Amino acid sequence: MRIGLGADHAGCALKALLAAHLAATGHEVVDFGTSDPAISVDYPDYAGQVAKGVASGALKLGLLVCGTGIGMSIAANKVVGVRAAVVHDVTTARLARQHNDANVLCMGARLLASTVAMECIDAFLVESFDPRHQRRLDKIAALEKGSAS
Ligand code: RB5
Repeated sequence: MRIGLGADHAGCALKALLAAHLAATGHEVVDFGTSDPAISVDYPDYAGQVAKGVASGALKLGLLVCGTGIGMSIAANKVVGVRAAVVHDVTTARLARQHNDANVLCMGARLLASTVAMECIDAFLVESFDPRHQRRLDKIAALEKGSAS
C-alpha cells in the first residue's frame, strides 16, 4: 500500500520509526517530512500535503504524527474527502477503519509508546470497513458539500 507520512517537530522521531516499520512490512512509504525535531514547524503544512495526496488518490492512506494527533486531525479533515481519525490504541485504530473508513490516521507522539503506535497501524491495516456504516459516511460527504440539513 502507498502510504503518505507527515509529522511536525514533536512527531518526527515517531514518524521515522513508523516509516521503517511500514517499509519492513512491504508498504511504499512517501515521507513528506519534517525530519528535524530541533526545528519547530507548523503541523498544518504537513497535514495538508498528506491529506491532499489521499484526497487525490495518489496515496491510499495517510499517517500523521504531532504531539497529540489533534492538530493534525483538525487540519487534515479540512480537505474534502479526508476522514482523519486520532487513534490512541488498537481498539480505536480498528474501529476507525471498521466504522469510519478513516483514510488518515493521526497519532500523538507525546502520548503513545512507539510499540503501541505500531500496533495501531497494524490493527488498522488488517481491519476492513463494515458497509453497514456507509449511510453515515454518505452523510459526512453531504456535510462536505453543504447539502445536509
Ligand atoms: C506542537 O508543540 C504541538 O502543538 C503539536 O505537535 C500538536 O500536539 C498539536 O496538536
